[in-house]
Amino acid sequence: MFSSTMIGLLPISLALLIGLVLVYFILHFFFVKQEPTNLPHGSMGWPFFGETIGYLKPHKSNSMGSFLEKHCSRYGKVFKSHLFGCPAIVSCDHELNTFILQNEERLFQSSYPKAVHGILGKLSMMLVSGELHKKLRSVAVSFISMSKSMPAFLHSVEKLSISVMESWKERREVVFFKEAKEFTLYLMLRHLLSIEPEETLASKILEDFLTFMKGFVSLPLNVPGSPYAKAVKARTRISSTLKEIIKEREKDNVGYETTSALLAIVVYFLGQHPNVLECLKDEHQAIRENKKYGEPLNWEDYKQMEFTSNVISEALRCGNVVKFVHRKALQDVTFKGYLIPSGWKVLPVLTAANLDPSVHEDPSEFNPWRWADQAMNRKVNPFGGGLRLCPGAELAKVEAAFFLHHLVLNYRWKIKGDDFPISCPYLEFKRGLLLEIEPREENGKQSLIGVSSL
Ligand code: HEM
Repeated sequence: MFSSTMIGLLPISLALLIGLVLVYFILHFFFVKQEPTNLPHGSMGWPFFGETIGYLKPHKSNSMGSFLEKHCSRYGKVFKSHLFGCPAIVSCDHELNTFILQNEERLFQSSYPKAVHGILGKLSMMLVSGELHKKLRSVAVSFISMSKSMPAFLHSVEKLSISVMESWKERREVVFFKEAKEFTLYLMLRHLLSIEPEETLASKILEDFLTFMKGFVSLPLNVPGSPYAKAVKARTRISSTLKEIIKEREKDNVGYETTSALLAIVVYFLGQHPNVLECLKDEHQAIRENKKYGEPLNWEDYKQMEFTSNVISEALRCGNVVKFVHRKALQDVTFKGYLIPSGWKVLPVLTAANLDPSVHEDPSEFNPWRWADQAMNRKVNPFGGGLRLCPGAELAKVEAAFFLHHLVLNYRWKIKGDDFPISCPYLEFKRGLLLEIEPREENGKQSLIGVSSL
């Protein structure tokens, strides 16, 4: 039963409640910015974390993953979310992705999260913009375009490919992704460690090397001040200097990691498609037959590897090496009626277009022959685009093509167990891509393995 006092208080409480609701609506109306109606649909997820955990959840790399599949079917190919600590627009729309990439520095700008700065180093090209980016990029582009077709570089790619395969001679199994990572890292170090003689670092290493060499030919007497003792110390210094350089350079691992991932996915798809492998082998056999025994490959040979190039492009489309890139909107942008608010993070998902049935026929089918259609190049962005188009694209392809040349001529392989590529979002293999390998005896004459002239 209500007491009379409580009944007396009822109208006051009711008036207070109505007052509070009114104050809330007035404050909301005047002080809280209304969300524009043309923002893409979506969910901002949990406070602070947003939807980042779901967005980064590992999935088979030849699929979109359940997060994107569910969000696209619920909200459409462009949706809003809260990712990496910011309100964000995610785009799985190829047209919008291309528009974002082409409008770098005008409407959008590269914007990687703080954590990435620590890993890449603050002068990494991907993290700088404007004039500094222009300068760094022009140095990189001219260095890469000069070296990619240089006989010395091509020779070094071929030599290293052969030595990797030589090391497999007595083996029946290889963890291929590990081998591919070593191959591309060694290639990069060989290239990057050719330090110019005028650099202080070069003279320091040279001095240590001379001390080391002197000690090398002296009595191994480890007493303080002896040439041997000095050499031991010099050796330690050389190794730590090199380690320092390697550590520094490893930070800029954009190139070597992605190239090894490319090699691994090509080998993975070839392992599943023997008909493609046969065609690829025919192309390389024809190239080898036109050369003298032991003659190294050159740029013209690479240009003849048309089917190889299509296999590589198709593996990039189906395997999805780089899933998405980070941008931010520099101003309010309206595209296809959607608003992308100024300051928001923008994530073009490059892999979405690769697997979009409205862009490609049977997108999940690995079919290198679809690349006979010249228009295919406009339907994918595996190397990004615009001002930040990957300067290493051709370099990665030539490394992969030369490695494949020797691989298909010298070995057969089978993928062991149920290994498959995973997008974490960087590419990984469940079991490191464990292969059962067998030398191809029938190609003994064409094989360059063991040719010392190379
Ligand atoms: C299959 C191999 C590769 C793939 C799939 C790949 C992919 C990409 C993508 C998507 C971007 C654009 C990033 C963005 O827009 O934010 C990029 C940029 C870049 N890539 Fe690659 N890349 C590969 C190999 C290489 C190699 C071999 C090198 C170096 C020799 C390299 C060096 C770079 C650099 C320096 C950038 C930054 C460019 C800039 O910001 O202007 N990449 N790469």
